[in-house]
Amino acid sequence: MDSNLLARIHGISVMLFLLTYVIKTILLFTSKGMLEKYSKVTKVPEMIISTLFLVTGIWLFVILGGIKTMQIIKLVLVFLSIPLAVIGFKKQNKGLALVSLLLIVGAYGMSEASKNKPFIPAKVAMTGNVNSENAMGAQTYFENCAFCHGADGKKMYRGAKDLTQSKFSFDDTQQMVRDGSKGKMPGYTATITDDNIAAVSKFVETLKTNNE
Ligand code: HEC
Repeated sequence: MDSNLLARIHGISVMLFLLTYVIKTILLFTSKGMLEKYSKVTKVPEMIISTLFLVTGIWLFVILGGIKTMQIIKLVLVFLSIPLAVIGFKKQNKGLALVSLLLIVGAYGMSEASKNKPFIPAKVAMTGNVNSENAMGAQTYFENCAFCHGADGKKMYRGAKDLTQSKFSFDDTQQMVRDGSKGKMPGYTATITDDNIAAVSKFVETLKTNNE
């Protein structure tokens, strides 16, 4: 499946899941009778939604082959909150339900906050056929950029530009790698050195097929 579509389904199912969580918690504090009715009616949709968001989340991770530190924290929070919620709502324990809601909202916050953060660099074993001058550029590219731009520059994950068709100059590319593009591409000043940024930008030049 197309990764953009997958990411959208993931986002929507997370929002719906959060919404039903908030409603249930409010009902737990205000009207237990209503909570029981609501839980009965939404039982099946809720199962579908939570399965959808877990499956799409895992699927995205597999497609990307990369994860961010904050996304790991997010996963831990989600997996802590689910058993708490199950017990909390079943036993109508307000404390547990509230803690669980806080965890899940925290997880959502982590996910939002990680949007402009780079992925943890992949461990890439370089084969011997890259020339030594640009080996660093190639390695930096495969570790950091290939999730979204693909090994050949054409992947276009979540709206990433096809680098083989890019009109960016070497300097534009360096600038882009430094600053990123808000909410779309992470900036790399905190994770890779200036030398690496220059090297990876040089590597991007070699991906272009429309240079002349
Ligand atoms: C999270 C996915 C993601 C990662 C990782 C990523 N990019 Fe991008 N990249 C994008 C997106 C999305 C755009 C389009 C941004 C926009 O339109 O504002 C883009 C645009 C670009 C552009 C501009 C191309 C053009 O012609 O407009 C360059 C150059 C680029 N990326 C290089 C890199 C390099 C080099 C790396 C690794 C250091 C990298 N990107 C990592 C998603 C990513």
